[in-house]
Amino acid sequence: MQLEGKRTIVTGGASGIAAATVLAYAREGASVVSVDINDEAGQRIADEANRLGSGKVTYRHLDISDQDAVNHVFDEAVTLLGGLDVLANIAGNEAQKPAEDVTAEDIDKIFNVHVKGMFFTNAAAYRAMQAHGGSIINASSGAGVTGYPGSPVYSAAKAAMLGYIRTVAFDWGDKLIRINAILPAAETDMTKEHFGAMDPETLARYKALYKSKIPLGGWLGTVEQIAAVNVFLASDASSFITGQAIAVDGGWTMVR
Ligand SMILES: NC(=O)c1ccc[n+]([C@@H]2O[C@H](COP(=O)([O-])OP(=O)(O)OC[C@H]3O[C@@H](n4cnc5c(N)ncnc54)[C@H](O)[C@@H]3O)[C@@H](O)[C@H]2O)c1
Repeated sequence: MQLEGKRTIVTGGASGIAAATVLAYAREGASVVSVDINDEAGQRIADEANRLGSGKVTYRHLDISDQDAVNHVFDEAVTLLGGLDVLANIAGNEAQKPAEDVTAEDIDKIFNVHVKGMFFTNAAAYRAMQAHGGSIINASSGAGVTGYPGSPVYSAAKAAMLGYIRTVAFDWGDKLIRINAILPAAETDMTKEHFGAMDPETLARYKALYKSKIPLGGWLGTVEQIAAVNVFLASDASSFITGQAIAVDGGWTMVR
């Protein structure tokens, strides 16, 4: 088991990549506190992970864009876990709108979760890790590196995440706190909603784009393929890696 004894928090654990990460961490022997705003699914995934029989998973409600709530729930989680070695901050939302129509509310909706949520959860993790080090993983996106048609706010938020991790990797390295981003591509509720909202012509255009951009199969991967890299980044096997944007997207994001 690659994560035996690791004390971990996973955000967004009710769905998609984060849910697969909760399951993979438990399978690899970690203790996990999984947080989300979707309590029914969050608890269901935690129960499923506990049936795997290795690590122990506890679910807690948390909106990561609420700083007081983040500090409170992280304090509780760190007490429950007996410390913190890993934060996988994967929660996220998405919206498509032409840049020329974007409102302040549109920006807040996306930046509150991806950017503020990252600042709040990562700082709370720092406080728990500063005495002994640890690993922080943030889910960014290739959209923040190469751009993504129709998603200007999302792409801007994901690029902001990369600026943060590259800076904080310098600032927290002396405490042996590693911080990296993953750039995933996997079929999830988010991508189902994203493509489900398109008319047939637009969908065909996006499918052609994916086919031309992704050398490994021309389409999204699976959540398990992303979770496997989240296990690696949480484990001691990645102990000399920090400040990186690691694309797990079949090859779409090659230059950065
Ligand atoms: N799926 C992809 O192909 C893809 C590509 C690039 C980046 N990403 C990023 O990966 C991450 C996971 O995406 P996914 O596809 O698994 O999405 P998903 O929609 O399946 O899961 C996201 C989870 O985050 C939770 N969440 C949303 N807002 C929250 C908040 N304020 N506080 C706590 N939890 C909150 C949701 O309830 C949900 O359970 C996201 O950050 C996303 O932007 C995904």
